[in-house]
Amino acid sequence: MKDNKNKSDIKESFSPLSSSSSSIAIGEHHSPDIEKKIKSGQFKIAVYGLGHVGSSIASVWLRAGAHVIGVDKSSHVLENAKRGMTHVPEPGVNEAFAKGLEEKRFEIYEDLVQASHDSYFKMICVPVLADNGSANLTAVKEVSRCIGRGLKRGDVIALNPSVPPGTTEDTVLPIIQKESKGLRVETDFYMIYNPERIYEGRAIEDIEDRYPAIISGAGHKSVEIGVKIYSIVYKKGVITMSNIRTAETEKLFEGVYRDVNIALANELAKFCELLGIDFWEARKGANSQPFCHIHKPGIGVGGACIPTYPQFILHTADKIKFSCTITRLGRTINDSMPAYSVQHAIKLLNDRRKRVAESIVTLLGLAFRGGVSDTRLSPTYQVIKEFQKLKVREIRIHDPLVKSDPSLPKEENIILTSNLSEALRDTDLVMLITDHPEYNALTSKETGDAPVYDGRGILDKSKFDHTKFATIGIG
Ligand SMILES: NC(=O)c1ccc[n+]([C@@H]2O[C@H](COP(=O)([O-])OP(=O)(O)OC[C@H]3O[C@@H](n4cnc5c(N)ncnc54)[C@H](O)[C@@H]3O)[C@@H](O)[C@H]2O)c1
Repeated sequence: MKDNKNKSDIKESFSPLSSSSSSIAIGEHHSPDIEKKIKSGQFKIAVYGLGHVGSSIASVWLRAGAHVIGVDKSSHVLENAKRGMTHVPEPGVNEAFAKGLEEKRFEIYEDLVQASHDSYFKMICVPVLADNGSANLTAVKEVSRCIGRGLKRGDVIALNPSVPPGTTEDTVLPIIQKESKGLRVETDFYMIYNPERIYEGRAIEDIEDRYPAIISGAGHKSVEIGVKIYSIVYKKGVITMSNIRTAETEKLFEGVYRDVNIALANELAKFCELLGIDFWEARKGANSQPFCHIHKPGIGVGGACIPTYPQFILHTADKIKFSCTITRLGRTINDSMPAYSVQHAIKLLNDRRKRVAESIVTLLGLAFRGGVSDTRLSPTYQVIKEFQKLKVREIRIHDPLVKSDPSLPKEENIILTSNLSEALRDTDLVMLITDHPEYNALTSKETGDAPVYDGRGILDKSKFDHTKFATIGIG
């Protein structure tokens, strides 16, 4: 691993070879001004997939002065982008889109092949989710085919999503080479793998200021070009990895580490509950030791990333008949948390001699974590299923940031609202699922007579009647 923090250390290795239509090919000749050409808009950058990651990446390049082509298959996303907007509530994205449009440096394409033809650098930012444990590469394959068809000599391609080791070289590159009708990687074009490492809600800041880029390439020329390009926007520099498989694996490690650590926290929280010990206090003490970083327990692990990456590791491990016991157990523990938490929460109801089936239940939070509106793989969906099994009278879901959600069950007794007092009115049980900051200051004044289960450990228990209140991890 090499840490390339100093831009001046990077050797120039390529330059404009020819200019055709709106795009310019880069060839074997040497040129000192790749940064200038990107920043001046001469070398266009195509971003495939304008979702959470892609819209932030497009914004970063727009902010750097580049000419960006935004590509997506969703007409809703494209229409928004044409108006300088995004459905992704990332700070700075709307502003970057609007400015890019105003300065005619932001173009929106629905033709994936044309976008490849018209751009020099192509970034693949479409999703790769787990499908029964294995990676669903449908979108990546489709985009790769289109990029291949529009590819020119000298072009550079980067794959961004987190993928099982081997995906770039075994799946993406063969498709691109086949569709490009004879262009060869490292000779005619360049291939980079760059896992995106953003934290939703501060993605632009993460890319520009907070994290170094991780990159690897199909060969030394790809790496060299990648370092040159990524150094333009990553102030923390570029870390290169010796091969693409290692870079793909690195990103999965980040997710597995967090998933397993959360599972450990969940296990220790349950242990404390049984012994009547305050997990949170014990954790605070333990984490004051510099080698201890116990994560927080909770009702479940959601989002497109953390619950997904361990599955890619496990699927690959199964193929090579490696047990991967801890990663597997982490997933099992975390997946069991919604049901476990519901069982604990309804004990509060039983204590009040209220029949579960007669109850109105209020779930606080649908987003997978606080401060975001992203509901992908949110544990709230599992909690809803548990309450449906118990046949409760009504399930009210409150979220300050999620106004509608087509993934919710369509039943009449399942209601989504962003009005907190409406959600809490005459309810029988409150379960706090998402650590939205809006919930931090809740007290029994708002929750009324209903018992409260704090599944994230964010509420001040002194503000509630202790006979009607429980926190995950506190026995
Ligand atoms: N969301 C995160 O915080 C995060 C963080 C780090 C890495 N990642 C990685 O990035 C990947 C993308 O995540 P995301 O959150 O941006 O997903 P997303 O669902 O928010 O956005 C994906 C976009 O791609 C578009 N798309 C899908 N298929 C397409 C196709 N065939 N052609 C063109 N456009 C297509 C969709 O319409 C959507 O706008 C994830 O799979 C993950 O591996 C995500």
